[in-house]
Amino acid sequence: MRTSTPSGRSAHRIDVVSIFPSYFDGLALSLLGKARDSGILDLSVHDLRDWTHDRHRTVDDTPYGGGAGMVMKPEPWGLALDQLAAGGTRPTIIFPSPAGEVFTQATARDLATREHLVFGCGRYEGIDERVFEYARDLGEVRLISLGDYVLNGGEVAVMAMIEAIGRLIPGVVGNPESLVEESHEDGLLEYPSYTKPAVWREHEVPPILLSGNHGAIAAWRREQQLERTRIRRPDLLDD
Ligand code: ADE
Repeated sequence: MRTSTPSGRSAHRIDVVSIFPSYFDGLALSLLGKARDSGILDLSVHDLRDWTHDRHRTVDDTPYGGGAGMVMKPEPWGLALDQLAAGGTRPTIIFPSPAGEVFTQATARDLATREHLVFGCGRYEGIDERVFEYARDLGEVRLISLGDYVLNGGEVAVMAMIEAIGRLIPGVVGNPESLVEESHEDGLLEYPSYTKPAVWREHEVPPILLSGNHGAIAAWRREQQLERTRIRRPDLLDD
């Protein structure tokens, strides 16, 4: 069942599992903090070690078949996922991974519609593959990469994803118009912005922006978007 906030907006639940939960303290300071306080976003960060049962709170072990590094053990992940998916919410379960599909603004828009997201942050050489198979019984599983480079773990990737997703949830960003006019929302890069003074250290604001001609300004901005995209990201125009 979908829960409602005092404002009548539906609440979005996000759970994060990590062996470094304090990584996520910064999220509370960003724009998501307000949404969380108002009940629009119910964000909980969990320590994977809370689902271990040995004295050393062990979360990793050596890989079968040999090889470098350590692999995250399946047992704590199984218990964590059981608990977070209890109640039959059928969450979307996301594992950040350089071997996953690439995260884009379209991914963020899709995930912002989901009522319950669970992020599982892997470390070391990764998580025992059976965890992904098991998780498919509990919800939809997605392996998602931030881009074609390797991070030390999923935490930074999950923070980026939550910030991109969170600001698309109605009520999280104050001005919905600011969402429409930004890079990637219409497949192009954003046009350049200026504020006062009109001349700063001999650098002038483009005169068209001071003209008061809204039609001409809109056309100029569109032109700037196309030009920037052509120079910086021609791959976006191919799409
Ligand atoms: N974990 C390690 N590298 C990653 C990446 N590029 N994207 C998401 N998670 C990761």
